[in-house]
Amino acid sequence: MFIKGLRCVNCGEFFPLNPKFFVCPKCDVEKVCGVTVFKGITEVVYDYVAIGGVVSRELFSRRVFNALRYREFLGFGGDVELITLCEGGTPLIGSSRLAEYLKIKHLLLKNEAQNPTGSFKDRESLLAVNMALNFGLKSVSCVSSGNAASSIAAYAARAGLECYVFMPAKASRGKILQCLVYGAKTFLVDGIYEEIFEVHLEAIKGLNVLDVTPGYNRFRVEGDKTIAYEICEQLGWRVPDWIIDNVGNGTHLYGMWKGFKELYNLGFIDKLPRMVAVGPISGAPIVHCFKSGVISPLEGCGESIAEGLIAMWSYDAPLAIRALKESNGYAEYVSDYEILEAMKMLARFEGIFAEPSAVASIAVLPKLLESGVIDGKDEVVCLITGSGLKDPEGGSRISGNPMSIPLNVNSIRKVFQFK
Ligand SMILES: Cc1ncc(COP(=O)(O)O)c(C=O)c1O
Ligand SMILES: [Zn+2]
Repeated sequence: MFIKGLRCVNCGEFFPLNPKFFVCPKCDVEKVCGVTVFKGITEVVYDYVAIGGVVSRELFSRRVFNALRYREFLGFGGDVELITLCEGGTPLIGSSRLAEYLKIKHLLLKNEAQNPTGSFKDRESLLAVNMALNFGLKSVSCVSSGNAASSIAAYAARAGLECYVFMPAKASRGKILQCLVYGAKTFLVDGIYEEIFEVHLEAIKGLNVLDVTPGYNRFRVEGDKTIAYEICEQLGWRVPDWIIDNVGNGTHLYGMWKGFKELYNLGFIDKLPRMVAVGPISGAPIVHCFKSGVISPLEGCGESIAEGLIAMWSYDAPLAIRALKESNGYAEYVSDYEILEAMKMLARFEGIFAEPSAVASIAVLPKLLESGVIDGKDEVVCLITGSGLKDPEGGSRISGNPMSIPLNVNSIRKVFQFK
Protein backbone atom coordinates (compact mmCIF):
# COMPACT_ATOMS: atom_id res chain seq x y z
CA MET A 1 0.00 0.00 0.00
CA PHE A 2 1.23 3.49 -0.82
CA ILE A 3 -1.17 5.07 1.69
CA LYS A 4 0.29 6.57 4.86
CA GLY A 5 -2.97 7.50 6.59
CA LEU A 6 -5.39 10.41 6.92
CA ARG A 7 -4.57 14.04 7.60
CA CYS A 8 -6.90 16.70 8.97
CA VAL A 9 -7.22 19.42 6.38
CA ASN A 10 -7.84 21.99 9.13
CA CYS A 11 -5.11 21.35 11.76
CA GLY A 12 -2.74 19.02 9.88
CA GLU A 13 -2.92 16.22 12.49
CA PHE A 14 -2.11 12.77 11.09
CA PHE A 15 -4.13 9.57 11.75
CA PRO A 16 -3.66 5.92 10.77
CA LEU A 17 -6.26 4.43 8.38
CA ASN A 18 -9.35 3.08 10.10
CA PRO A 19 -12.69 2.38 8.39
CA LYS A 20 -14.69 4.07 11.16
CA PHE A 21 -12.57 7.19 11.31
CA PHE A 22 -13.05 10.04 8.85
CA VAL A 23 -13.19 13.20 11.01
CA CYS A 24 -10.41 14.74 13.12
CA PRO A 25 -11.65 14.72 16.75
CA LYS A 26 -9.66 17.84 17.60
CA CYS A 27 -11.42 20.00 15.00
CA ASP A 28 -14.58 17.85 15.00
CA VAL A 29 -17.87 19.09 13.54
CA GLU A 30 -20.12 22.08 13.85
CA LYS A 31 -23.89 22.15 13.32
CA VAL A 32 -24.97 25.04 11.10
CA CYS A 33 -28.58 25.45 9.89
CA GLY A 34 -29.18 21.86 11.07
CA VAL A 35 -26.42 20.32 8.97
CA THR A 36 -23.04 18.93 9.95
CA VAL A 37 -20.07 20.94 8.81
CA PHE A 38 -16.96 18.78 9.07
CA LYS A 39 -14.41 21.22 10.42
CA GLY A 40 -12.10 18.25 10.93
CA ILE A 41 -12.44 17.00 7.35
CA THR A 42 -9.59 14.61 6.49
CA GLU A 43 -7.95 13.39 3.33
CA VAL A 44 -5.85 10.41 2.38
CA VAL A 45 -2.08 10.97 2.50
CA TYR A 46 0.29 8.97 0.31
CA ASP A 47 3.94 8.08 0.29
CA TYR A 48 4.76 10.05 -2.87
CA VAL A 49 8.43 9.15 -2.74
CA ALA A 50 7.47 5.47 -3.02
CA ILE A 51 4.85 6.19 -5.71
CA GLY A 52 7.27 8.39 -7.67
CA GLY A 53 9.80 5.55 -7.64
CA VAL A 54 7.36 3.21 -9.38
CA VAL A 55 5.11 5.19 -11.74
CA SER A 56 6.04 6.50 -15.16
CA ARG A 57 4.31 7.43 -18.40
CA GLU A 58 5.73 4.27 -19.86
CA LEU A 59 4.26 2.08 -17.07
CA PHE A 60 0.82 3.62 -17.58
CA SER A 61 0.98 3.19 -21.34
CA ARG A 62 1.50 -0.58 -20.94
CA ARG A 63 -1.77 -0.97 -19.02
CA VAL A 64 -5.41 -1.08 -20.18
CA PHE A 65 -6.97 2.39 -20.36
CA ASN A 66 -9.17 2.45 -17.27
CA ALA A 67 -8.98 3.86 -13.73
CA LEU A 68 -6.71 1.08 -12.44
CA ARG A 69 -4.05 2.08 -14.95
CA TYR A 70 -3.06 4.58 -12.23
CA ARG A 71 -3.46 2.13 -9.33
CA GLU A 72 -0.37 3.28 -7.40
CA PHE A 73 -1.89 6.78 -7.14
CA LEU A 74 -4.91 5.10 -5.52
CA GLY A 75 -2.67 3.37 -3.01
CA PHE A 76 -2.66 -0.10 -4.55
CA GLY A 77 0.49 -2.02 -5.52
CA GLY A 78 0.66 -3.79 -8.88
CA ASP A 79 -0.03 -7.24 -7.40
CA VAL A 80 -3.12 -6.45 -5.30
CA GLU A 81 -6.32 -8.09 -6.57
CA LEU A 82 -9.13 -5.61 -6.80
CA ILE A 83 -12.85 -5.59 -7.51
CA THR A 84 -13.41 -3.63 -10.70
CA LEU A 85 -15.98 -3.16 -13.45
CA CYS A 86 -13.34 -1.55 -15.67
CA GLU A 87 -14.52 1.93 -14.70
CA GLY A 88 -12.88 5.00 -16.17
CA GLY A 89 -11.11 5.07 -19.50
CA THR A 90 -13.94 7.31 -20.68
CA PRO A 91 -13.60 9.24 -23.95
CA LEU A 92 -12.42 12.83 -24.19
CA ILE A 93 -14.40 13.87 -27.22
CA GLY A 94 -13.44 16.86 -29.30
CA SER A 95 -16.58 18.88 -29.90
CA SER A 96 -17.08 20.31 -33.37
CA ARG A 97 -20.71 21.33 -33.88
CA LEU A 98 -21.37 22.48 -30.31
CA ALA A 99 -18.01 24.26 -30.19
CA GLU A 100 -18.81 26.07 -33.41
CA TYR A 101 -22.27 27.05 -32.14
CA LEU A 102 -20.84 28.37 -28.86
CA LYS A 103 -17.83 29.98 -30.59
CA ILE A 104 -15.23 28.06 -28.60
CA LYS A 105 -12.22 26.90 -30.56
CA HIS A 106 -11.13 23.99 -28.39
CA LEU A 107 -14.00 22.36 -26.52
CA LEU A 108 -13.54 18.84 -25.18
CA LEU A 109 -16.16 16.66 -23.50
CA LYS A 110 -15.07 14.13 -20.86
CA ASN A 111 -17.98 11.72 -21.15
CA GLU A 112 -18.37 10.08 -17.75
CA ALA A 113 -21.76 8.73 -18.81
CA GLN A 114 -19.79 5.90 -20.41
CA ASN A 115 -18.83 4.41 -17.07
CA PRO A 116 -20.25 0.95 -16.16
CA THR A 117 -23.31 2.26 -14.30
CA GLY A 118 -23.53 5.48 -16.31
CA SER A 119 -21.80 8.03 -14.09
CA PHE A 120 -18.43 9.12 -12.67
CA LYS A 121 -19.51 7.65 -9.31
CA ASP A 122 -18.07 4.30 -10.45
CA ARG A 123 -14.57 5.69 -9.92
CA GLU A 124 -15.55 6.45 -6.31
CA SER A 125 -17.22 3.06 -5.82
CA LEU A 126 -14.01 1.37 -6.93
CA LEU A 127 -12.30 2.87 -3.88
CA ALA A 128 -15.23 2.52 -1.47
CA VAL A 129 -15.78 -1.17 -2.15
CA ASN A 130 -12.12 -2.19 -2.22
CA MET A 131 -11.51 -0.36 1.05
CA ALA A 132 -14.48 -2.16 2.63
CA LEU A 133 -12.94 -5.47 1.54
CA ASN A 134 -9.52 -4.34 2.72
CA PHE A 135 -10.94 -3.72 6.20
CA GLY A 136 -12.76 -7.05 6.19
CA LEU A 137 -16.22 -5.46 6.29
CA LYS A 138 -19.22 -7.29 4.85
CA SER A 139 -21.69 -4.42 4.40
CA VAL A 140 -21.73 -0.93 2.92
CA SER A 141 -24.37 1.75 3.26
CA CYS A 142 -24.86 5.12 1.67
CA VAL A 143 -27.12 8.11 1.32
CA SER A 144 -27.33 9.33 -2.24
CA SER A 145 -29.24 11.54 -4.63
CA GLY A 146 -29.25 8.48 -6.91
CA ASN A 147 -26.04 7.95 -8.86
CA ALA A 148 -23.78 7.05 -5.94
CA ALA A 149 -26.42 4.53 -4.81
CA SER A 150 -26.82 2.88 -8.20
CA SER A 151 -23.06 2.69 -8.57
CA ILE A 152 -22.24 1.28 -5.13
CA ALA A 153 -25.07 -1.24 -5.60
CA ALA A 154 -23.31 -2.63 -8.68
CA TYR A 155 -19.86 -2.73 -7.07
CA ALA A 156 -21.18 -4.30 -3.85
CA ALA A 157 -22.86 -6.97 -5.97
CA ARG A 158 -19.59 -7.74 -7.72
CA ALA A 159 -17.72 -7.79 -4.40
CA GLY A 160 -20.34 -9.96 -2.66
CA LEU A 161 -21.02 -7.25 -0.08
CA GLU A 162 -24.37 -6.46 1.46
CA CYS A 163 -25.51 -3.04 0.29
CA TYR A 164 -27.95 -0.54 1.80
CA VAL A 165 -28.91 2.62 -0.07
CA PHE A 166 -31.09 5.52 1.09
CA MET A 167 -32.35 8.07 -1.43
CA PRO A 168 -34.79 10.97 -1.46
CA ALA A 169 -38.20 9.68 -2.55
CA LYS A 170 -37.99 11.97 -5.62
CA ALA A 171 -34.84 10.28 -7.01
CA SER A 172 -34.95 9.40 -10.72
CA ARG A 173 -36.72 6.13 -11.51
CA GLY A 174 -33.78 4.87 -13.56
CA LYS A 175 -31.36 5.20 -10.65
CA ILE A 176 -33.77 3.51 -8.20
CA LEU A 177 -34.29 0.70 -10.71
CA GLN A 178 -30.53 0.18 -11.03
CA CYS A 179 -30.21 -0.22 -7.23
CA LEU A 180 -33.02 -2.76 -7.14
CA VAL A 181 -31.76 -4.77 -10.09
CA TYR A 182 -28.23 -4.95 -8.63
CA GLY A 183 -29.84 -6.33 -5.47
CA ALA A 184 -29.22 -3.48 -3.02
CA LYS A 185 -31.55 -3.04 -0.07
CA THR A 186 -33.14 0.10 -1.44
CA PHE A 187 -34.96 2.67 0.69
CA LEU A 188 -36.72 5.86 -0.34
CA VAL A 189 -36.90 8.48 2.39
CA ASP A 190 -39.12 11.52 2.61
CA GLY A 191 -36.48 14.22 2.91
CA ILE A 192 -33.69 16.04 1.11
CA TYR A 193 -30.14 14.66 0.87
CA GLU A 194 -28.85 16.62 3.87
CA GLU A 195 -31.73 15.52 6.12
CA ILE A 196 -31.19 11.86 5.27
CA PHE A 197 -27.39 12.31 5.56
CA GLU A 198 -27.72 13.64 9.12
CA VAL A 199 -30.04 10.87 10.31
CA HIS A 200 -28.03 8.13 8.58
CA LEU A 201 -24.77 9.40 10.13
CA GLU A 202 -26.34 9.01 13.57
CA ALA A 203 -28.11 5.72 12.84
CA ILE A 204 -25.06 3.92 11.48
CA LYS A 205 -22.82 4.70 14.49
CA GLY A 206 -21.53 1.53 16.15
CA LEU A 207 -22.75 -0.76 13.35
CA ASN A 208 -20.35 -3.01 11.50
CA VAL A 209 -21.14 -1.32 8.21
CA LEU A 210 -18.86 0.95 6.14
CA ASP A 211 -20.48 4.33 5.56
CA VAL A 212 -19.70 5.05 1.91
CA THR A 213 -21.84 8.18 1.70
CA PRO A 214 -20.48 10.88 -0.65
CA GLY A 215 -19.22 13.84 1.34
CA TYR A 216 -18.39 11.62 4.34
CA ASN A 217 -16.36 8.61 3.20
CA ARG A 218 -12.83 9.90 2.55
CA PHE A 219 -11.82 7.22 0.03
CA ARG A 220 -14.31 8.22 -2.65
CA VAL A 221 -12.53 11.43 -3.61
CA GLU A 222 -9.37 9.44 -4.36
CA GLY A 223 -11.10 7.58 -7.20
CA ASP A 224 -12.02 10.89 -8.82
CA LYS A 225 -8.33 11.74 -9.22
CA THR A 226 -8.26 9.31 -12.13
CA ILE A 227 -10.38 11.72 -14.23
CA ALA A 228 -7.48 14.19 -14.08
CA TYR A 229 -4.84 11.57 -14.96
CA GLU A 230 -6.90 10.44 -17.93
CA ILE A 231 -7.49 13.95 -19.28
CA CYS A 232 -3.75 14.70 -19.19
CA GLU A 233 -2.82 11.43 -20.81
CA GLN A 234 -5.55 11.78 -23.46
CA LEU A 235 -4.05 15.16 -24.35
CA GLY A 236 -0.56 13.66 -24.67
CA TRP A 237 0.35 14.84 -21.14
CA ARG A 238 -0.77 18.37 -21.96
CA VAL A 239 -3.05 20.27 -19.57
CA PRO A 240 -6.16 22.18 -20.70
CA ASP A 241 -6.74 25.78 -19.63
CA TRP A 242 -10.09 25.08 -17.94
CA ILE A 243 -11.93 22.19 -16.29
CA ILE A 244 -15.63 22.97 -15.99
CA ASP A 245 -17.56 20.75 -13.64
CA ASN A 246 -21.01 20.03 -12.19
CA VAL A 247 -20.85 20.28 -8.40
CA GLY A 248 -23.02 18.90 -5.61
CA ASN A 249 -20.85 17.91 -2.66
CA GLY A 250 -17.78 19.12 -4.54
CA THR A 251 -16.14 15.72 -4.07
CA HIS A 252 -15.04 15.00 -7.60
CA LEU A 253 -14.05 18.59 -8.39
CA TYR A 254 -11.62 18.40 -5.49
CA GLY A 255 -10.59 14.86 -6.46
CA MET A 256 -9.62 16.03 -9.94
CA TRP A 257 -7.68 18.96 -8.51
CA LYS A 258 -5.78 16.64 -6.18
CA GLY A 259 -4.99 14.43 -9.18
CA PHE A 260 -3.68 17.33 -11.27
CA LYS A 261 -1.50 18.49 -8.38
CA GLU A 262 -0.04 15.02 -7.89
CA LEU A 263 0.91 14.85 -11.57
CA TYR A 264 2.41 18.33 -11.38
CA ASN A 265 4.41 17.61 -8.23
CA LEU A 266 5.80 14.39 -9.70
CA GLY A 267 6.79 16.13 -12.95
CA PHE A 268 4.26 14.49 -15.29
CA ILE A 269 2.79 17.85 -16.34
CA ASP A 270 4.17 21.39 -16.36
CA LYS A 271 1.10 23.47 -15.55
CA LEU A 272 -2.23 23.24 -13.72
CA PRO A 273 -5.70 23.93 -15.12
CA ARG A 274 -8.19 26.44 -13.72
CA MET A 275 -11.21 24.76 -12.13
CA VAL A 276 -14.79 26.02 -12.50
CA ALA A 277 -17.67 24.85 -10.28
CA VAL A 278 -21.20 25.10 -11.64
CA GLY A 279 -24.41 24.54 -9.71
CA PRO A 280 -28.15 25.33 -9.84
CA ILE A 281 -29.26 28.80 -8.90
CA SER A 282 -31.84 27.34 -6.49
CA GLY A 283 -29.16 25.74 -4.30
CA ALA A 284 -25.42 25.57 -4.91
CA PRO A 285 -23.50 26.14 -1.66
CA ILE A 286 -20.08 25.97 -3.33
CA VAL A 287 -20.98 28.71 -5.80
CA HIS A 288 -22.49 30.74 -2.95
CA CYS A 289 -19.38 30.27 -0.75
CA PHE A 290 -17.06 31.19 -3.62
CA LYS A 291 -18.98 34.35 -4.45
CA SER A 292 -19.64 35.45 -0.85
CA GLY A 293 -16.30 34.39 0.64
CA VAL A 294 -18.09 32.70 3.57
CA ILE A 295 -17.93 28.90 3.83
CA SER A 296 -21.27 28.04 5.37
CA PRO A 297 -24.44 26.07 4.49
CA LEU A 298 -27.41 27.80 2.89
CA GLU A 299 -30.46 28.28 5.10
CA GLY A 300 -32.41 26.11 2.71
CA CYS A 301 -32.64 25.23 -0.96
CA GLY A 302 -35.31 25.21 -3.64
CA GLU A 303 -35.97 22.61 -6.31
CA SER A 304 -34.05 21.83 -9.48
CA ILE A 305 -34.11 19.27 -12.27
CA ALA A 306 -30.41 18.77 -11.43
CA GLU A 307 -31.09 16.33 -8.58
CA GLY A 308 -27.40 15.44 -8.16
CA LEU A 309 -26.38 19.07 -7.71
CA ILE A 310 -29.14 20.80 -5.74
CA ALA A 311 -28.07 21.19 -2.11
CA MET A 312 -28.21 23.39 0.96
CA TRP A 313 -24.75 22.15 1.95
CA SER A 314 -21.85 20.58 0.10
CA TYR A 315 -20.05 18.37 2.61
CA ASP A 316 -16.77 18.64 0.70
CA ALA A 317 -17.16 22.41 0.18
CA PRO A 318 -14.00 23.34 2.15
CA LEU A 319 -11.93 21.16 -0.18
CA ALA A 320 -13.71 22.26 -3.34
CA ILE A 321 -13.34 25.94 -2.43
CA ARG A 322 -9.65 25.34 -1.78
CA ALA A 323 -9.36 23.85 -5.28
CA LEU A 324 -11.11 26.86 -6.82
CA LYS A 325 -8.85 29.29 -4.97
CA GLU A 326 -5.58 27.42 -5.56
CA SER A 327 -6.34 27.03 -9.25
CA ASN A 328 -7.38 30.66 -9.71
CA GLY A 329 -10.73 29.23 -10.72
CA TYR A 330 -14.31 30.38 -10.76
CA ALA A 331 -17.86 29.40 -9.79
CA GLU A 332 -21.17 30.18 -11.44
CA TYR A 333 -24.88 29.41 -11.23
CA VAL A 334 -27.13 28.08 -13.98
CA SER A 335 -30.93 27.93 -14.18
CA ASP A 336 -33.03 24.87 -14.97
CA TYR A 337 -33.91 26.51 -18.29
CA GLU A 338 -30.22 26.81 -19.19
CA ILE A 339 -29.68 23.18 -18.16
CA LEU A 340 -32.49 21.97 -20.43
CA GLU A 341 -31.10 24.02 -23.33
CA ALA A 342 -27.66 22.46 -22.71
CA MET A 343 -29.14 18.94 -22.67
CA LYS A 344 -30.75 19.64 -26.02
CA MET A 345 -27.59 21.14 -27.55
CA LEU A 346 -25.41 18.30 -26.35
CA ALA A 347 -27.80 15.69 -27.70
CA ARG A 348 -28.51 17.39 -31.04
CA PHE A 349 -25.01 18.70 -31.81
CA GLU A 350 -22.87 15.93 -30.35
CA GLY A 351 -25.06 12.83 -29.96
CA ILE A 352 -24.62 12.67 -26.18
CA PHE A 353 -27.70 12.10 -24.01
CA ALA A 354 -26.81 13.30 -20.53
CA GLU A 355 -28.95 13.77 -17.43
CA PRO A 356 -29.71 17.33 -16.22
CA SER A 357 -27.09 17.21 -13.40
CA ALA A 358 -24.47 16.24 -15.96
CA VAL A 359 -24.69 19.29 -18.22
CA ALA A 360 -24.46 22.36 -15.97
CA SER A 361 -20.88 22.47 -17.28
CA ILE A 362 -22.23 23.07 -20.80
CA ALA A 363 -25.11 25.30 -19.69
CA VAL A 364 -22.68 27.79 -18.13
CA LEU A 365 -20.48 28.26 -21.22
CA PRO A 366 -22.40 31.17 -22.85
CA LYS A 367 -22.23 33.07 -19.55
CA LEU A 368 -18.52 32.44 -19.05
CA LEU A 369 -17.74 33.52 -22.61
CA GLU A 370 -19.93 36.59 -22.47
CA SER A 371 -18.44 37.78 -19.17
CA GLY A 372 -14.93 37.20 -20.48
CA VAL A 373 -14.05 34.66 -17.76
CA ILE A 374 -12.99 32.26 -20.50
CA ASP A 375 -11.70 33.24 -23.92
CA GLY A 376 -13.02 31.60 -27.09
CA LYS A 377 -9.47 30.50 -27.88
CA ASP A 378 -8.90 28.73 -24.54
CA GLU A 379 -8.82 24.96 -24.31
CA VAL A 380 -11.87 23.97 -22.26
CA VAL A 381 -12.79 20.54 -20.88
CA CYS A 382 -16.40 20.10 -19.73
CA LEU A 383 -17.32 17.17 -17.53
CA ILE A 384 -20.43 15.25 -18.64
CA THR A 385 -21.06 13.41 -15.40
CA GLY A 386 -23.99 11.05 -15.98
CA SER A 387 -26.20 9.38 -18.56
CA GLY A 388 -29.59 10.69 -19.62
CA LEU A 389 -31.01 7.17 -19.64
CA LYS A 390 -31.10 7.27 -15.83
CA ASP A 391 -33.64 10.09 -15.82
CA PRO A 392 -36.23 9.61 -18.57
CA GLU A 393 -38.42 12.32 -17.01
CA GLY A 394 -35.61 14.85 -17.45
CA GLY A 395 -35.16 13.73 -21.05
CA SER A 396 -38.87 14.01 -21.79
CA ARG A 397 -38.66 17.73 -20.97
CA ILE A 398 -36.73 18.28 -24.21
CA SER A 399 -37.75 15.33 -26.36
CA GLY A 400 -41.19 16.07 -27.79
CA ASN A 401 -43.34 13.05 -28.70
CA PRO A 402 -43.07 10.45 -31.46
CA MET A 403 -45.69 10.43 -34.22
CA SER A 404 -47.91 7.40 -34.68
CA ILE A 405 -48.52 6.37 -38.29
CA PRO A 406 -50.60 3.65 -39.95
CA LEU A 407 -48.84 0.60 -41.42
CA ASN A 408 -48.75 1.26 -45.15
CA VAL A 409 -46.30 2.42 -47.82
CA ASN A 410 -48.02 5.74 -48.40
CA SER A 411 -47.90 6.83 -44.80
CA ILE A 412 -44.15 6.11 -44.69
CA ARG A 413 -43.61 7.94 -48.01
CA LYS A 414 -45.46 10.94 -46.65
CA VAL A 415 -43.03 11.12 -43.73
CA PHE A 416 -40.19 12.04 -46.10
CA GLN A 417 -42.19 14.92 -47.57
CA PHE A 418 -42.54 16.61 -44.19
CA LYS A 419 -39.25 18.43 -44.72
C1 LIG B 1 -24.60 13.37 -12.58
C2 LIG B 1 -23.96 14.06 -11.43
N1 LIG B 1 -23.13 15.08 -11.66
C3 LIG B 1 -22.51 15.75 -10.66
C4 LIG B 1 -22.74 15.40 -9.33
C5 LIG B 1 -22.07 16.18 -8.25
O1 LIG B 1 -20.90 15.54 -7.85
P1 LIG B 1 -20.16 15.92 -6.49
O2 LIG B 1 -21.09 15.58 -5.37
O3 LIG B 1 -18.92 15.12 -6.51
O4 LIG B 1 -19.91 17.41 -6.54
C6 LIG B 1 -23.58 14.33 -9.02
C7 LIG B 1 -23.83 13.92 -7.64
O5 LIG B 1 -24.62 13.09 -7.33
C8 LIG B 1 -24.21 13.64 -10.10
O6 LIG B 1 -25.05 12.62 -9.88
ZN1 LIG C 1 -7.96 18.73 12.98
